[in-house]
Amino acid sequence: MNQLKHDNIVHFAGADIDVGSGRASLSLEVCCLGAMDTVISRYYARNLRIIEDLMWKTFWNMSLALCYLQTGVDARISAVNGRSIHSLPNWSRIQHHDLKPGNILLKPGTGMLPRCVVADFGCSLKSSDVASGRAFFRVSRCAAAFAPLEYPQPCDRSDVYQLGLIIHCMARLRQTPNSIIIRLQSRPTSSKYSASLNSLVSMCLHPNPMSRVDARELPRLVHSQMQLYGARHMRRSSLPDWAFGKIKP
Ligand SMILES: Nc1ncnc2c1ncn2[C@@H]1O[C@H](COP(=O)(O)OP(=O)(O)O)[C@@H](O)[C@H]1O
Ligand SMILES: [Mg+2]
Repeated sequence: MNQLKHDNIVHFAGADIDVGSGRASLSLEVCCLGAMDTVISRYYARNLRIIEDLMWKTFWNMSLALCYLQTGVDARISAVNGRSIHSLPNWSRIQHHDLKPGNILLKPGTGMLPRCVVADFGCSLKSSDVASGRAFFRVSRCAAAFAPLEYPQPCDRSDVYQLGLIIHCMARLRQTPNSIIIRLQSRPTSSKYSASLNSLVSMCLHPNPMSRVDARELPRLVHSQMQLYGARHMRRSSLPDWAFGKIKP
């Protein structure tokens, strides 16, 4: 984890290994606005919907995190300029395998909306470790409700599917996806949200991984659609304090 250096991945501060007990503990930066599952439950309790601005910000931040895990490259500038991403030469691809609202943490960002960071790498696998037999995928360790259709044979696009499910859960104020809506493949974020958001999320949720959008393409696609949406609708307002599970450092 200490190799991962990206604004949308939780910062690793250190590790403590107790040889006697065989236990290891990790120190991570504190994300003082809590996790996305809390945001969903707070909006659900007030019967209010999450503003689309936050959906796009989450989608954008998460697309950068997933692209980085695949390539070792921060795609921010390339995506803004509409350029494709190429992996670092010796980068070993990382799959998170357990993306869900509780593993997306929030902290104050540069604008009005919080920044999202990916956390909990307990199920993640590095492609070089899988290839050498040092690590293998264990489906039993991942949240079953967020399992892509291809499990127990994950692929490079499984994380993209789970990202689609997270945006769907935010839109529908659910802690776990609605399997009927996902199976029907129509409007995963509902008609309360823009057609462009629905269509991009559908591209992430394609049942066939080969037809699913690739993590290297995602930042460019999300950015261009977010710009179109933002030019017309972005409210540029901050979120209410009650929405977050505040955590003291
Ligand atoms: N660095 C952090 N900053 C703020 N909250 C955190 C942090 N790490 C974990 N949490 C909180 O604890 C919850 C569980 O942490 P997580 O690392 O996902 O462990 P696990 O799911 O294995 O129990 C998260 O959903 C979040 O609410
Ligand atoms: Mg977790």
